[in-house]
Amino acid sequence: MQQLGFIGTGSMGSILLESFIKAGIPEEMIHVTNRSVEKVRNIKTKFKHVSDHSSSRSLADSAEWIFVCTKPADMVGVLKDMSTYLKSHHVIITITSPLQVEEAEELLYKTKTPVVRFIPSIVNLSLQGPSLVTFGNRCSNRLQNELNQLFNLISSPISITADMTRAASDLASCGPAFISFLVRQMIKGAVEETGIKEGTALKITESMLVAYGELLRGKQFDLATLQKRVTVPGGVTGVGLDVLEKNTKNTFHDMFKATHKKYANDRDHIRELLNK
Ligand SMILES: NC(=O)c1ccc[n+]([C@@H]2O[C@H](COP(=O)([O-])OP(=O)(O)OC[C@H]3O[C@@H](n4cnc5c(N)ncnc54)[C@H](OP(=O)(O)O)[C@@H]3O)[C@@H](O)[C@H]2O)c1
Repeated sequence: MQQLGFIGTGSMGSILLESFIKAGIPEEMIHVTNRSVEKVRNIKTKFKHVSDHSSSRSLADSAEWIFVCTKPADMVGVLKDMSTYLKSHHVIITITSPLQVEEAEELLYKTKTPVVRFIPSIVNLSLQGPSLVTFGNRCSNRLQNELNQLFNLISSPISITADMTRAASDLASCGPAFISFLVRQMIKGAVEETGIKEGTALKITESMLVAYGELLRGKQFDLATLQKRVTVPGGVTGVGLDVLEKNTKNTFHDMFKATHKKYANDRDHIRELLNK
């Protein structure tokens, strides 16, 4: 197994490295660097044997497979810088949706470094759930297999093409935030309309969700059959569903339009940076 590097130990970088450690990758095989030193210090407090580096260049002296976990705008600068010193044994793993894999490869044209885009989800901290993978042209079949083995340690990798990037990311990566919001709205409604205590409503709902996930995992039910089995004809669930159907008619259409508009702006910004 190659030494793993993480450039950027913010929210997602730290979740990713923690997931790999949880999955059995020894801390000694993990190298980190971050723009501000405090975040690296926090990682070192939690994982004593992880190696910290003062720069991406120093990290690349020790790590072969390098996850670039910065915000998209910072990623362009990081890759431009890396294009001056990467070696033939390196592989770059980008984790952000607005930068396409071909664009990252183009930034690394001098070093001919293989690039794969691996878009994770916070749910991967449970060593499950989707990750979205797009291999660049320089990734051989053998390298793709090896990388998939790594990604499999913490997720179920799903191959995606550039045109489905945003929709797939909305479902896989933003999904946990969207679902959390909707469920919290349901709890708020229960508390404000019925007087049930918030703590009680939260406990019931979180417990229901954990068991709901188990049913999906066991493949006893899919989403449609779950809904159907709970909805007794003429019963209470149907009355509730009628209200939901009426009120959410365009909600998700509007949501996907909004995320895609933001994505288009982010892509414009990335193109400007690439052309500088
Ligand atoms: N959050 C999610 O659920 C999620 C899911 C999938 C993909 N992603 C992708 O993950 C990426 C990171 O998101 P995030 O939420 O983790 O952001 P974040 O918390 O802001 O983390 C980014 C980190 O990168 C560091 N950084 C920036 N430039 C650097 C450089 N030149 N060298 C070293 N470190 C540098 C920042 O350091 P400072 O401490 O100085 O700011 C920061 O700690 C984004 O591209 C996002 O699209 C996120």
